[in-house]
Amino acid sequence: MRSRNLNALVVITGALVALPFAQAVTTVIPANSFSSYSTFETYWNYLYPWGSDHNGSARMKGRNAYTISGEFSAPVARGTWPAFWLTVTVLIDSILIILTDFYSCKGVNSWPPEVDIGEWKGTSDNWFNTFNTSSIVRSDLVSWPSDLSFHSIKAVLTAQPNNADVKIEFYMDNVLRATQYGQNFVGQPLWLIVNLQMEGSSGSPGPTGTTMYKVRNIAITRTGS
Ligand SMILES: *[C@@H]1O[C@H](CO)[C@@H](O)[C@H](O)[C@H]1NC(C)=O
Ligand SMILES: *[C@@H]1O[C@H](CO)[C@@H](O)[C@H](O)[C@H]1NC(C)=O
Repeated sequence: MRSRNLNALVVITGALVALPFAQAVTTVIPANSFSSYSTFETYWNYLYPWGSDHNGSARMKGRNAYTISGEFSAPVARGTWPAFWLTVTVLIDSILIILTDFYSCKGVNSWPPEVDIGEWKGTSDNWFNTFNTSSIVRSDLVSWPSDLSFHSIKAVLTAQPNNADVKIEFYMDNVLRATQYGQNFVGQPLWLIVNLQMEGSSGSPGPTGTTMYKVRNIAITRTGS
């Protein structure tokens, strides 16, 4: 350590001596190195130099996050069931499994995961839901205007330090309204689905006239890998 400090001192002294001539400044680590994953990874390495763990009480790990957002004019009349949701990606064969055995299959590429960012079930509420299993479900309701005005909803999904669970933060009109956690959602491929179904969970009968569900400005961004 002592010789390192001496070396640093020598460099500073040399720079002072050279000051009469303009010197190019070489930035070794810029002040914005934490501003994005790409700049972070240009200048830093993950983990400790000796590995991932520090005396068993800390683990350093890269993380990523997806932000999924859009604006919605959603009908809330009885019997209308618009939705904006994430569910597991499955092969066509597995869809048959899901249809016939929806509530018992769980594992790689089977249901759940499911995250409902928008789900309107025939009342003036939007349901934010995360399914760990068919019966272990967290739901948070936010009231939703019935005048078909557009409102934004957003979900920020962040892999957790255990590299298994995912935190989901739900926003309506840019206000954080609910935080939920999905078990073992990391690494699961998901579909993002926008659909308008009738009846089912939204009650019956459905409306007799034309019903419109309008969606605009859907965007997905990702930080990390
Ligand atoms: C790890 O180190 C911290 C800081 O020295 C200490 O408080 C903690 O008890 C240690 N944990 C283990 C599991 O040894
Ligand atoms: C789902 O699992 C996560 C991770 O274990 C947990 O934090 C969350 O509370 C669970 N959800 C429910 C409804 O129990």
